[in-house]
Amino acid sequence: MTEYRDSPAAEFWESFFSYVQRFPFPAEEVREAATLKVDHTLRVADSSLAIAQELSLPPRELLLVETSAIFHDLGRFPQLHRYNTFRDSLSQDHALLGYRALKREDFLKGLMPEEKNGIYQAVLLHNRLSIPEAVPERVKILRDADKLDVLGVLVELYLSPAKNPLVALELPENPGYNPALLAGFREHHSSSFQNLTCLNDLRLGHLSWVFDISYPWTLREILRREYLETLLSLLPKDGGTQEAREAVDTELIRRLGIGLKESRP
Ligand SMILES: [Fe+2]
Repeated sequence: MTEYRDSPAAEFWESFFSYVQRFPFPAEEVREAATLKVDHTLRVADSSLAIAQELSLPPRELLLVETSAIFHDLGRFPQLHRYNTFRDSLSQDHALLGYRALKREDFLKGLMPEEKNGIYQAVLLHNRLSIPEAVPERVKILRDADKLDVLGVLVELYLSPAKNPLVALELPENPGYNPALLAGFREHHSSSFQNLTCLNDLRLGHLSWVFDISYPWTLREILRREYLETLLSLLPKDGGTQEAREAVDTELIRRLGIGLKESRP
């Protein structure tokens, strides 16, 4: 991972870390969840820069891409502090909380007004189910990098015996799933996270993100790390999940020319 102190955005990283330190979180489980969001932010910044570099964006835009990543989950800390949950549906939209904190603290002082607005837009849109077609590249880069990392964090969580309930969105490990989560696979868009009943619903929701990835770089990384295969292997085997697997496979072949099976070494 890049050392943040060497980054042109070092001053924004300092603001981020000083903000995070205002939330000490005495309970271990909550502290662990907060630390995970800090590590997530570092990785999202790295992946955002990797995508931006592949797109050959100019240095000033790289700075704005990195700054959007630094502050995108700022709202997670007051959310955890106030509501003790990461579930927006049970608390508040963490993107909106982050946007308000970012404005209130004036962390972006020194940037041009249009640059500030661009970052606010990226923060506000990063967790939306869908976004307008004509958004700046920065918004799509952040959404891709965020999804890639959330997939990694959740796959690791599913495979570990001790699951932090805050990270698992307080969802139980039930054998079935809510069939409403299959709608996205039929309609080729990502599913809503509004009505999650158990971890299998969350897995299906994350699997459906394949339809909402903007850049081939991100899709290739998701495939290389076998996140989709792992999610599928943890889901019950039935007609519904088979249909989901086929829809994912078709989408990968359409976008990358390779499907789930071919991606395996
Ligand atoms: Fe995030």
